[in-house]
Amino acid sequence: MQEQSREGFGGERSAHGESVSAGGASASGASAGGASAEGSAAEDAVILTGVSRNFVDRSGRTIHALRDVSLRARRGSVLAVVGPSGCGKTTLLEMLCGLQQPDAGSILAPPAALMPQRDLLLPWLSALDNAALPLRIAGAPKAAARAKAEPLFAELGLEGFERARPSELSGGMRQRVAFLRTLLSGKPLLCLDEPFGALDAITRMQMQRWLSEALRHERRTVILVTHDVEEAVLLGDRVAVLSKRPGEVTADLTVDAPRPRARSQQAVIELRERALRALGLEDELR
Ligand SMILES: Nc1ncnc2c1ncn2[C@@H]1O[C@H](COP(=O)(O)OP(=O)(O)OP(=O)(O)O)[C@@H](O)[C@H]1O
Ligand SMILES: [Mg+2]
Repeated sequence: MQEQSREGFGGERSAHGESVSAGGASASGASAGGASAEGSAAEDAVILTGVSRNFVDRSGRTIHALRDVSLRARRGSVLAVVGPSGCGKTTLLEMLCGLQQPDAGSILAPPAALMPQRDLLLPWLSALDNAALPLRIAGAPKAAARAKAEPLFAELGLEGFERARPSELSGGMRQRVAFLRTLLSGKPLLCLDEPFGALDAITRMQMQRWLSEALRHERRTVILVTHDVEEAVLLGDRVAVLSKRPGEVTADLTVDAPRPRARSQQAVIELRERALRALGLEDELR
C-alpha cells in the first residue's frame, strides 16, 4: 500500500505544494467549487479546485492528463469517479494521497490511504500480515495487529487463507486482501483505484454489497475510481464523469436513492443512463 500522512485533517496542497490553513482553504475551495456542489464547505472532506496535471513523456511531448477538475466529496460519503482509460483517474487519486502534485489548482483532503490498481501485496508476508501491515507500521505489536485484522477475513470470504502467501491466492482474493489493508490503515479518506476490477462478476457483486454495508457502519470518505458505470451508481453518493484525456468533469451526478440499491431500481437505471450519455456511450443504452 502506498499512503501518505498529512499534517492533520484539512491540509491543502496547492499547485506549488504549499500548505494553507484548513479554514482558509475550506473557504476558498467552497467559493471556487462551483454551483453544482451541495452542502457547506465545513461538511466537505475533499475539495478539488481547478486541478490540472500534465506529464512530459520520454520524447518530450506534453501529456495533458487532467484539466481544470473541480470536485467535492462530503465527509463520510462515496464519490465515484468514472471515465475512459487514460483520462487521469489514477493520477487524481495519487494527487489526493499526496504522491503527486497538481500543476494548477488546489486539493484539500484529509490523510488518505490508496488502494492501488494492482494489489502490490508483499510476497513474503502471509495474507493476514499483509492486511495488518498498516497497523504494524503505526506501531501495533504483531499479535494485536493480527487480532484486529483476523475477524475481517471471514467477512470478505477469506477465512482459512490467513496464513497463505499472495502467490497462493487467486487474483480476486489478493484484491480483497489489498482492500482490507487499505481499510485497516484507519485513514479518514480511502482512495480506491478500481478495487473490484479484477474480480469475477459474482465476487464483484458480493464485494459491492459488502462495501456498501461496511460504509454504512464506518464514517469514511471514499473516492472510488471505476470503469463500471453501474457500480458507480450503486455505490456512490455522487458520480463524477470524466471525459477522455485530458480528463475534465462532464457530469457531477447526485445519487439520492436509498441503500442498499438494486440494479433494477428506477433511480439506478436513470442515473446509469445519464452517466453513459455523459461518457458518450449512448450505444450502450440500445
Ligand atoms: N508518470 C507518468 N509519466 C508520463 N505520463 C504519465 C505518467 N502517469 C500517467 N501518465 C499519463 O497520464 C494519462 C493518465 O494516466 P492515468 O494512469 O491517470 O489514467 P487512468 O484514467 O487511471 O487510466 P486507466 O483507466 O487505464 O487506469 C495517461 O495518458 C498516462 O499515459
Ligand atoms: Mg488507472
